[in-house]
Amino acid sequence: MGLPAMFFAIIPLLSGPVAQLVEQRIENPRVGSSILPQATSLQIIFCKIDYFPWYFVDTKSNSIPTHVAIVMDGNGRWAQNRHMPRSMGHAKGSSIVRGLVEHCSHLGIKYLTLFAFSTENWSRPRDEVSTIMELFIKYLEKELKNLANSGVCFKVIGDISLFDKELQEKINDAVELTSRNKKIVLTLAANYGGRWDIVKAFQSWLKENPSSDVSLLSQETLQKYLSTSDIPDPDLLIRTGGEQRISNFLLWQIAYSELYFTEVLWPEFDKEQLEIAISWFKSRQRRFGSVSG
Ligand code: FPP
Repeated sequence: MGLPAMFFAIIPLLSGPVAQLVEQRIENPRVGSSILPQATSLQIIFCKIDYFPWYFVDTKSNSIPTHVAIVMDGNGRWAQNRHMPRSMGHAKGSSIVRGLVEHCSHLGIKYLTLFAFSTENWSRPRDEVSTIMELFIKYLEKELKNLANSGVCFKVIGDISLFDKELQEKINDAVELTSRNKKIVLTLAANYGGRWDIVKAFQSWLKENPSSDVSLLSQETLQKYLSTSDIPDPDLLIRTGGEQRISNFLLWQIAYSELYFTEVLWPEFDKEQLEIAISWFKSRQRRFGSVSG
């Protein structure tokens, strides 16, 4: 069989299974996303026509994550390994944020969420808590112009009412100043806890709907009351520092996130480490509770 004949013989063989996968994907757009990551509506229409070799229409490779969330762990150990106070680890950890935000933006990641201070972190020594609060203030003072000019939309999730007035004002100013930026959304989770978020969502819903039947409350509705209602769920959750736990981070939102744990301590998590995590993510087959094609 000559080459052209082989070419036309293979098309019908391939069309069936691939079209079946795309059919499933029409029902549930997340099915087969790693195999058919970017099937366009044109391709979906074409696959409805039996044996149309739609797979010759250009498809992009498995996409990078839209939303990356990070538990920045290991600052204290990084400092202790160097016989320095833990506060130096937090300072170093804060100093690497700029480069990572820029690199995420450069890679086309649209949302980056950083766990900066949990509802449980208040139990740390008072000095350490003060250091972290001072670093937030310094970060905003130093980075605000740069964030605003480089298209970063800055947000905070968490109960900031417990922070000093000065920090609250700086946060509100930064949110306001960058609110129209579109390149990347940088969200700091500060005095945040996943359980707090879910309870607060339920309370807010109940306040708005005092006479509603609670048994009719759906996931879709409750989701609208979470602090992350305007951002998609994370595709990739990274935790640095070697621990393999979630520590009350985005509990609801990471239901189908890919979880990446690395021994690398946060102050050493550079662009190269980020790219390693993203390559790992690209190799994952996401099924969202379904079965693979
Ligand atoms: C966890 O490391 C880190 C924190 C609880 C604080 C994170 C804060 C920063 C990176 C600085 C502020 C960030 C910004 C964006 C201004 P750890 O202290 O638990 O480390 P360990 O596990 O080695 O003790």
